[in-house]
Amino acid sequence: MRIGIIGAGNIGGTLTRRLTALGHDVAVANSRGPQTLADLASETGARAVTVEEAARGADLVVVTIPLNRVPDLPADLFGQADDALIVVDTGNYYPRQRDGRIEDIENGLPESRWTERHLGRPVIKAFNNIYAQHLADDGRPAGSPGRIALPVAGDDPSAKATVLALVDALGFDAVDAGTLDESWRQQPGSPVYTTDKDADGVRRALAEANPDRAPEWQGSADSPGTFDAPA
Ligand SMILES: NC(=O)c1ccc[n+]([C@@H]2O[C@H](COP(=O)([O-])OP(=O)(O)OC[C@H]3O[C@@H](n4cnc5c(N)ncnc54)[C@H](OP(=O)(O)O)[C@@H]3O)[C@@H](O)[C@H]2O)c1
Repeated sequence: MRIGIIGAGNIGGTLTRRLTALGHDVAVANSRGPQTLADLASETGARAVTVEEAARGADLVVVTIPLNRVPDLPADLFGQADDALIVVDTGNYYPRQRDGRIEDIENGLPESRWTERHLGRPVIKAFNNIYAQHLADDGRPAGSPGRIALPVAGDDPSAKATVLALVDALGFDAVDAGTLDESWRQQPGSPVYTTDKDADGVRRALAEANPDRAPEWQGSADSPGTFDAPA
């Protein structure tokens, strides 16, 4: 597949490495420009491009930037994109550490719905609940005992099937976690968040998730602080 990756940090860098290793044609972008991605490009064979170029002509685009930066992406980024383009969102809401208080999310809008509205394009939520280092190192062949499973939520069955298959190819069991309205079940603070469960464990954890956002995952009037000193 032709894959665009917008964001080249912990998750974007990891996906660039893993997806090029699987033979995909990867174009990767960050906010500072392709010249700052020369090392990642020469390491992986990915093309370092602008954000607009990462979105153009791709079969699938992964948006993997801090949630509070999503509104900074170019307006109409996907305006010219083919209807079949799949957009994957890895984002998480960290109000106290990084993102600041976002009222719509505080009032119950799933964070990926918020991102989807900004992008003007349906998204599939995936890769948000695993540490980047585990995504890099802990993939296993299908059938391996204890293989980590990842939930995938979204509304378009065909797009979701493609992402489920990609998760499997990366070495993780893929669990259909329902529609994007259900994606709060895999948000920060949920039982499936960064807990590296197998497929049965992920299904149980999704079923047991509580829609109420715990206080430590709610923004305050002083938000954001920092990861060292959340506010
Ligand atoms: N870290 C994890 O283990 C992990 C796990 C699962 C999900 N997540 C979530 O996935 C998202 C990305 O996390 P991360 O840890 O990979 O972030 P990160 O390491 O902080 O990297 C962020 C990347 O986004 C780029 N970026 C920021 N604003 C941009 C813009 N307007 N246009 C283009 N690129 C932009 C940055 O580029 P510049 O450096 O050029 O600004 C950087 O490459 C977050 O929502 C995070 O909560 C993280």
